[in-house]
Amino acid sequence: MNDTDFHFDPVVFQPIGVIRTPYKESAPYQPIDGDEGDFRLVLDPIYEQGLKGLETFRYITVLYYLHRVEGDVELIVRPPWAGGVAVGVFASRAPNRPNPLGLSVVRLLGVEGNVVRVSGLDVYDGTPLLDIKPYVRELDSKADANYGWVEQFEDREHLILHIKGIPHEH
Ligand SMILES: C[S@@+](CC[C@H](N)C(=O)[O-])C[C@H]1O[C@@H](n2cnc3c(N)ncnc32)[C@H](O)[C@@H]1O
Repeated sequence: MNDTDFHFDPVVFQPIGVIRTPYKESAPYQPIDGDEGDFRLVLDPIYEQGLKGLETFRYITVLYYLHRVEGDVELIVRPPWAGGVAVGVFASRAPNRPNPLGLSVVRLLGVEGNVVRVSGLDVYDGTPLLDIKPYVRELDSKADANYGWVEQFEDREHLILHIKGIPHEH
């Protein structure tokens, strides 16, 4: 194999369930930990056994398909909170991506049968659920992680609130 061998057949995933949230028309830019409302991952019952042991974790990573993305893929994006700055889509969390996959880390509140209750999510009600993984402290968090291109801005503290999806006054 060489570096130009990337002509794969399309990859097809069957959702394992659905994400239920209070958001019908607009959703936060990122998950809000203390968000109020009913946030649930409802799995197809055939996958219920696969949740065994998940309840022992405090946080989980939720992977999903952003099924309501509209418009074309944009390789250069302007995050709505970034004052017009243009960056590559892979340097952003924008939904209009070549593969519209979303990833959110949320607090696990409980597992009951095929239903996983979680803290606030940043997706529309009915979003197709692709996968769930446990969030593991040393594996999934890096103490020296930074804020990338946002660090160049004078009002970065404010922009970081946007990145984290933290509600605030302007
Ligand atoms: C910026 S994306 C971030 C998604 C995920 N946390 C990530 O970082 O990959 C979140 C935004 O995607 C949009 N969105 C949420 N659910 C969606 C869906 N099912 N289809 C299309 N867009 C969606 C909403 O506008 C929401 O504010």
